Amino acid sequence: MDTTILRNRFRGQFGTSGDLYFSPGRINLIGEHTDYNGGFVFPGAIDKGITIEIYRNGSRKVCLLALDRKDDSYLEFSLDDTEKPSVHWACYIFGVCKELEKRGITLGGFNAAFTGDVPLGAGMSSSAALESVFAFALNTMFAGGRVDKFELAKIGQATEHNYCGVKCGIMDQFASVLGREGCLIRLDCRSLEYEYFPFNPEGYRLVLVNSMVKHSLGNEYNERRESCEKAVELMNSRFGSVETLRDANHQMLDDVKDKLTDQDYLRAKYVLDEKDRVLAVCDALVNSDYELVGKKMYETHWGLSRDYTVSCPELDFLVETAQECGVTGSRIMGGGFGGCTLNLVRDTLYDKFISKATRDYSRKFGITPKVYSVVIGDGSRKL
Ligand code: GLA
Repeated sequence: MDTTILRNRFRGQFGTSGDLYFSPGRINLIGEHTDYNGGFVFPGAIDKGITIEIYRNGSRKVCLLALDRKDDSYLEFSLDDTEKPSVHWACYIFGVCKELEKRGITLGGFNAAFTGDVPLGAGMSSSAALESVFAFALNTMFAGGRVDKFELAKIGQATEHNYCGVKCGIMDQFASVLGREGCLIRLDCRSLEYEYFPFNPEGYRLVLVNSMVKHSLGNEYNERRESCEKAVELMNSRFGSVETLRDANHQMLDDVKDKLTDQDYLRAKYVLDEKDRVLAVCDALVNSDYELVGKKMYETHWGLSRDYTVSCPELDFLVETAQECGVTGSRIMGGGFGGCTLNLVRDTLYDKFISKATRDYSRKFGITPKVYSVVIGDGSRKL
């Protein structure tokens, strides 16, 4: 990303120059809504994200310039403030500061400007990129990098929980901080063990199609989580040792079905199905069986749409279009309620699919979807 504008604006605003840091957004091949259920996810960092320029200012003040905002683009808070800022985007940075301090890091004031090329509300985790880039930079500047990377991801997640109202899992911040070029990462969200998988599916491409329906995760996301927790509570009192849906199986869920609403039952069932799918995809990747990977992606989509109910007509339409074209795999990516579909497409079909999806979608919804080729890049870093 060209940083000239960022550098000029920073200098114009603060009269100095600072250091540059970057954290990416992410994709997730499979394992959706499994992270907060102790399951597996399969994310990778992308080559798009948030870049900041930052410099210590020797006071207790934090002065922030959000380059991509039209309104409320400049804001200040003090590290001693106890109330979070009234402007939403600043809560991410305020939260990261507070969470670092909770872990014993003494911060000083700083000036920062930031900008991004990861689309907002498109399911590519722009907010995790923002949290991660500040957590990474502040850890480098004020703690000599002593907070380990996994803890930085947890700081981002805690920021969402405690300052932004989203009870998210660890996947997005984890991928943003720990991503590696060319690799997807299988993360076990119960043990927090992870493994890098080189991902270079010969003859296929990963492409994101943005429905342009902006999503923002909040109550609806938290409600899904509560449904899962209700199922866990019931199974735990019936069978014991069920801390998350990871510890349950379909038989156990069916045994408590009559005590759950249909909605809660279907949501928990989706998570159990998805748990099996992720493991099937791991095997398929080892065997380079991308057709099977794609089949599982479709199953995930329809599970998310019909059982977990986090899709929308626009996303369903994009997936149906992919299916009609013979695309190998297609599904909602991320939390849902809008954003992108992730598509695994054979090279030979790519042009046909993109032109049909773009044309048919524009005709039906009156808006042209944006298409992004996925490049799997590195995680948080100083530039
Ligand atoms: C959002 C959350 C993640 C994860 C996904 C769904 O991106 O931030 O923790 O739950 O939704 O898989």
